[in-house]
Amino acid sequence: MARKEKVGTRSYQLMKKSALVTGGCGFVGSNMAARLVRDGWRVTVFDSLVRHGAAENLKWLQSQGGIQFIHGDVRNAHDVARVIASAKPSAIFHLAGQVAMTTSMENPRRDFETNVVGSINVLESVRQLKINPVIVYSSSNKVYGDLPELRLKEEKLRYSATSHPRGVDESAPLDFQTPYGCSKGAADQYMLDYARGYGLNTVVFRHSTIFGGRQFATFDQGWVGWFCQQALEVKKNPKRKRFTISGDGKQVRDLLFVDDAVECYLAAVKNVSVARGQAFNIGGGIANSCSLLELFELLEEFVGVKLNYRRLPWRHSDQKFFVADIRKAKRLLQWSPKLNKRRGVKRMLEWAAQMNG
Ligand SMILES: NC(=O)c1ccc[n+]([C@@H]2O[C@H](COP(=O)([O-])OP(=O)(O)OC[C@H]3O[C@@H](n4cnc5c(N)ncnc54)[C@H](O)[C@@H]3O)[C@@H](O)[C@H]2O)c1
Repeated sequence: MARKEKVGTRSYQLMKKSALVTGGCGFVGSNMAARLVRDGWRVTVFDSLVRHGAAENLKWLQSQGGIQFIHGDVRNAHDVARVIASAKPSAIFHLAGQVAMTTSMENPRRDFETNVVGSINVLESVRQLKINPVIVYSSSNKVYGDLPELRLKEEKLRYSATSHPRGVDESAPLDFQTPYGCSKGAADQYMLDYARGYGLNTVVFRHSTIFGGRQFATFDQGWVGWFCQQALEVKKNPKRKRFTISGDGKQVRDLLFVDDAVECYLAAVKNVSVARGQAFNIGGGIANSCSLLELFELLEEFVGVKLNYRRLPWRHSDQKFFVADIRKAKRLLQWSPKLNKRRGVKRMLEWAAQMNG
C-alpha cells in the first residue's frame, strides 16, 4: 500500500503501541483510554472537556496514571496537527464529537464544525504528516435516516421489523437527516474516501446505543444511562415528579456495553488489512435489542420500583427501529459482543448508583 511504504518498517515499529484518543475524556473515550493503558499502549488523550462529566473522567484517568492529557479542540486544525505530530500514533480513535441530535438542531454550525471540520482536521493532519496510523471513527446509525423501507409490526412493548429479522446491514441506503445525521454522515464518508483516495487506514463504525460506566447521561443523549438514573431517583423519592419520554416508548435500539465497544475498536486495529476503508454497523445485535418500555420492565425488576412517565411528542427523525446487523463485523473483525443486555443494565445501574452516592 502506497502510503505504508513511505513509512519505513523501523519507524513504524517505533510508533507501534502509541494511541491518540480524541474525545478521550468522554464516555467511550475514557473507557478506551483506560483499556489501552492496561494493554501497555502509550496513550495521548485529547479533549476540550466541553461535555458534562468529561472533567470527572479526566480525574479518573489521571488517578490511574499512564495517559498524557492535551487540552484542545478538534475544530482547531493547529491543535489537532500538533497533537498528532507529537504523539505519532499508530492508532487514532476519533471519538470527539457533538453527540446529540437535539443540540445539533439548536446549533447546527457548532455541530458541523465539531463533527465535519474536526474530522477533516484529523484526516488532513495524518495525510500531511505522511504517517499512516489506523484511524477508527465513531459514526452513527443516523446516517440511514428514518429507514422507510423497514416493514414494522407494532407489538405490546416494542416495534419489530418483519422485513429485517437480523437488523439493518451496511447496504441500507444512506439518507442523512437532522444536522447531527448530516455531520456524522459527512465525516463518515470523508473517512471512507480518504482510504480510497489517499490510502489512509480508516475504519468507520456506525453505532446506535452504547452504554456503561463513565457515561454521564443527559436527557439529550445516553438514554439507557438516563433512565437508569431516573429509576434510582424514583427509588430514593417515590413521590418525585414523573419523568418524560419522547414518543410511545416502543422505539427499539440494540444495546452494546462499552467494554464490548472497546473490544471492537481493538479488533479494527488488529484486522486493519481487511477493515480499512470499510463501514460497519456496530451494536449489540438483535439478541440485545430493547425498547424503552422493555428497559423500564428490566429497571422495575432490578431496582424494585414502579416507573411512571409522561409522554412527550416524538423527537424529530427518531427511528422507530434500528438494530445493527453485526454479521459483517463478526466476519471481518472476528468480533461479537460478550455482555448481554440484562447483565449490562445491571452494571450500568451499579455505576449510576455509585455516582448518585
Ligand atoms: N454513546 C453512544 O451511544 C454513541 C452512539 C452513536 C455514536 N456515538 C459517537 O461516539 C463518539 C463518542 O461518544 P460518547 O458517547 O463517548 O460521547 P461523549 O460526549 O461522552 O464524548 C465525546 C467527547 O468529545 C469531547 N469533545 C466534544 N467536542 C469537542 C471538541 N470540539 N474538541 C475536542 N473534544 C471535544 C467531549 O468533551 C467529550 O469528552 C461520538 O463521536 C458519538 O457521536 C456514540
